[in-house]
Amino acid sequence: MFQIADVWEKIKKIDSACEETLAGRPPLIPEIPARDILVMIPEKHPDKKGLSYREGQARLLHDLANIELQAMELALRTLVEFPEAPAGFREELAALTVSESQHLRMCLQGLEKLEHAWGFWPIHTVLWRAVSSNDSLLDRILIVHRYLEGSGLDAGDTLLRRLDAVAESAIHPILKTIFSEEVGHVEFGSRWYREICRMEGIDPQEDFPLRMQRLKSQLPKRIEKICRPSRLRAGFTLSEIEFLEDWRERSRQQH
Ligand SMILES: [Fe+2]
Ligand SMILES: [Fe+2]
Repeated sequence: MFQIADVWEKIKKIDSACEETLAGRPPLIPEIPARDILVMIPEKHPDKKGLSYREGQARLLHDLANIELQAMELALRTLVEFPEAPAGFREELAALTVSESQHLRMCLQGLEKLEHAWGFWPIHTVLWRAVSSNDSLLDRILIVHRYLEGSGLDAGDTLLRRLDAVAESAIHPILKTIFSEEVGHVEFGSRWYREICRMEGIDPQEDFPLRMQRLKSQLPKRIEKICRPSRLRAGFTLSEIEFLEDWRERSRQQH
């Protein structure tokens, strides 16, 4: 799976990759998964056009497709690297992995509708690089399934509000579906973070700020405003939200 470069081929193979992993035959994890289009650091990506332009809408789908692609591969990576995780966690995670592949497919199909090819712009691998094979299961849940995916909820809220001001287009239903399903992905992370803390005799209230602080250098900076309603629906406690708001305020000041 990770060695396949073709994005459509990846989508086709994801179900069987999950099944094989659950059956104890996981794929190897490469340093960086194969890609079929140009990869560049985000700072070198071309400027974006506004969402009222067809090109701006296509760019948004292209960027989102790249996030979904990494989300799909990161979810599979968690499944591969933590075979000892609870069976219930692994089953839900396999379903989440497939859900990310559906989001990826929706973005790619939307791009086709807007007559822009995958590869028209470069992509990045920032999300993939936020994890490490030294992560513990709690680290990984916090990084991928709560921090990265949780930040996606904040970005989604801002985007949906920007889209309200734009005439109905092919991207509206795609974004609405993706962002409503993402709440469930993050809720999965919040629930299992607490459950695994409980299993390991850790107090999640105490652990959350300490672990976030320890992982800080690994995490890409996010500056969007925290979307409280989405965060609450996704299982964040008020004290976690307040911690994140404070964190983000400080990131914004340094920005
Ligand atoms: Fe997704
Ligand atoms: Fe997700």
